[in-house]
Amino acid sequence: MNMVVLNIPSLIKIKKVFKETARVLKAKGQFIFSNLNPLCIMIKKTACETQTHLKDFSYFQDGSKYRSQVRLSDNSQMEFVDVHWTLESLTGAASSAGFYLKRIIEPRPIKNPPKCLVNYTIAEHIIFDYQKINS
Ligand SMILES: C[S@@+](CC[C@H](N)C(=O)[O-])C[C@H]1O[C@@H](n2cnc3c(N)ncnc32)[C@H](O)[C@@H]1O
Repeated sequence: MNMVVLNIPSLIKIKKVFKETARVLKAKGQFIFSNLNPLCIMIKKTACETQTHLKDFSYFQDGSKYRSQVRLSDNSQMEFVDVHWTLESLTGAASSAGFYLKRIIEPRPIKNPPKCLVNYTIAEHIIFDYQKINS
């Protein structure tokens, strides 16, 4: 589930999505989802993104919104308004849906990166690798 939770505007809906994911997975099935790394959204300008916090944005306020200008490899830009969820809320939603967290992956810089990624100095994404608890 790549970069989906940032477009779901309600934590109740995220919980429903995670519960439904657990329902359709077999026992011990793997559930991977990703998000923008909260570290990245707190920094105005990173290698890939420029963030603007919308009115009343707060790190601790689930559902706060931010605007991202994303630089693409051909140097063009796209703009999105996305929704911020704390790590606490996302991991809580996954636990209560019946998953346990096996690992978190924070993608690292690659060797000989393309020009648009030379300044990739912090993890801009975060990947959660969960397993359905056997039941
Ligand atoms: C940033 S895009 C990521 C798309 C795709 N997963 C990818 O990796 O290229 C966000 C996607 O989240 C999905 N999404 C967000 N909210 C949703 C909702 N309420 N119901 C179904 N899909 C939703 C849509 O597929 C939307 O295109």
